[in-house]
Amino acid sequence: MQATLVIKNIGTLVTLKGENAPRKGKLQGEIGEIENGVIAIRDDRIIHVGSGELPDVIDVTGAQIIDAGGKVVTPGLIDCHTHLVHGGSRENELAMKLDGKGYLEILASGGGIHSTARATEKASFQELYEKAYKSLDIMKSFGITTVEGKSGYGIGSFQTEIKQMEVAKKLNEDHPLRVISTFMGAHAIPMEYKDDSDKFVDIMLNEMLPKVVEMDLAKFCDVFCEEGVFSIDQSRRILLKAKELGLVPKIHADEIVSLGGAELSAEVGAISAEHLVGASEQGIKDMAKAGVVAVLLPGTSFNLGKKEPAKARLMIEEGVPVALSTDYNPGSCPTENLQFIMTLASLHLRMKPSEVITAVTMNAAAALGIEKEVGSIQVGKKADIAIFDIPNIDYMIYHFGINHNYITIKDGKIIYKK
Ligand code: NIG
Ligand code: FE
Repeated sequence: MQATLVIKNIGTLVTLKGENAPRKGKLQGEIGEIENGVIAIRDDRIIHVGSGELPDVIDVTGAQIIDAGGKVVTPGLIDCHTHLVHGGSRENELAMKLDGKGYLEILASGGGIHSTARATEKASFQELYEKAYKSLDIMKSFGITTVEGKSGYGIGSFQTEIKQMEVAKKLNEDHPLRVISTFMGAHAIPMEYKDDSDKFVDIMLNEMLPKVVEMDLAKFCDVFCEEGVFSIDQSRRILLKAKELGLVPKIHADEIVSLGGAELSAEVGAISAEHLVGASEQGIKDMAKAGVVAVLLPGTSFNLGKKEPAKARLMIEEGVPVALSTDYNPGSCPTENLQFIMTLASLHLRMKPSEVITAVTMNAAAALGIEKEVGSIQVGKKADIAIFDIPNIDYMIYHFGINHNYITIKDGKIIYKK
């Protein structure tokens, strides 16, 4: 069989081989390492994964050969929770934060998400596109090959929501990274519905959701279920309606206040629940039973100055598959650096490096429902691969804050080289 790209002389090849499903419990830390690895790719697919030399049946005539020089190779990283497309930035909140103002306090006074909503409404399609394109370039340089992006800065303005999702769609077509879109119209209560938020939920159910589906703008529907934002009851109504219309439910759950979002994620059959800093033990058990992926975002806790970490160890013990993501957004986590998040996950959530790797590859793929296509280095899967200039995976966590990526490959093509 003819190869188009070969990666040889891989010090440690992290394959994540096995079942294409979220890894839970003990399996969260099983990453299928191969020493002295070699990979052959034909066009966008992996055709061989092994150790040492390639077998004779693989014809390398004319193929591009990468000598990995003993470096570490992993599946392309997947950032499964971002607020990619937005206008403006919020460095003005830093001083308020240092003065002791809380995230929800800033939001309630019309700042926070509302201020990004104003900037996003003002920005043209082209401006949003260029800003997000730049972020995708940064992510690409960090070894990321797939990114989820949420709308959610329209608040009252549905036009702005549509604009955000259309930008995400265009980015998926134009940028080398894969961009998967989520509708998050329920991200904050518009100021004009402050005293009648149920009315806004009705509009969401009867007008917005059907339109998003009709225009084919998103795969997922997410809700910010939080005190002072969308209640459990309102989140339930939105997610069940979304599901009925064919969108897959996701939920920002128990991020700041423990409301029972984890329990709700299981009840509505969400593919994932995100944040979960305040998830209850019952909620974690419910998630395990329902097979909901926990998407933990330790960069957000770090940036919001939260001391209490999400209970990652308990989740793993209880059999909840754990994924990790940046939560890249202009307010609670303004960074595209998923490698830094990996370090935070290890040090703050006490996840082992192998568990962390699973969380940003196979389990992140499962949180996006694409685990059969990406998330591991196995024959037949998409050739989305990252080569890191590190001697072993512990090193990536240990030497933090910098970019260890050397080459990013997406769909069998080199899209970034240091
Ligand atoms: O995941 N929690 C709600 N949404 C984002 C923050 C958005 C923002 O502050 O602009 C989050 O933390
Ligand atoms: Fe978020």
